[in-house]
Amino acid sequence: MDGTGHDYFHVARVVQHANKLLETETADHFLVNLAAWTHDLGDYKLHAGVDKSTQMISAFLSSIGVTASVINQVTEIVSQVSFSKGRTPTSAEARIVQDADRLDAIGAIGIARCFAYGGSTGNLLFNPEDNTPNASSIQHFYDKLLLLKDLMHTPTARQMALQRHQFMEDYLRQFYFEACY
Ligand code: NI
Repeated sequence: MDGTGHDYFHVARVVQHANKLLETETADHFLVNLAAWTHDLGDYKLHAGVDKSTQMISAFLSSIGVTASVINQVTEIVSQVSFSKGRTPTSAEARIVQDADRLDAIGAIGIARCFAYGGSTGNLLFNPEDNTPNASSIQHFYDKLLLLKDLMHTPTARQMALQRHQFMEDYLRQFYFEACY
């Protein structure tokens, strides 16, 4: 079980988003699918702050018979996807997987995942007296979630992000209304 919002169904949604983006983008479908399925394997957030992704992805892919050269390409794509690593993707494949992962971080699902992750780390829902980074789950909207729509690479993801972004703005308005803030 995973209570951080990085469960199997998150990964399945990222794969689905990535394949949607592939309808209008030119990229290697096999690499995009392998990278989307493995993009959260070994993530530092899930391994006590240590990044084990290259090691875990390589071990998994080689166990299912993927060649070394494809494994190298997939681990390179995945290393460019994470928001926290702050890398700009250099390939169409990495841009697609990053957009797909980011689409699942915003909108109604993004809100649910944000609070689930905050809960898993013992963070507050909201602290009206502290707006420093990581102070609460609501603060995470400003640290990351509200920035993502402008960071999408592909036109399709940019378009899909708009409505999800609007929903988060509406959600925050209602949250502050109920918090009398
Ligand atoms: Ni992810």
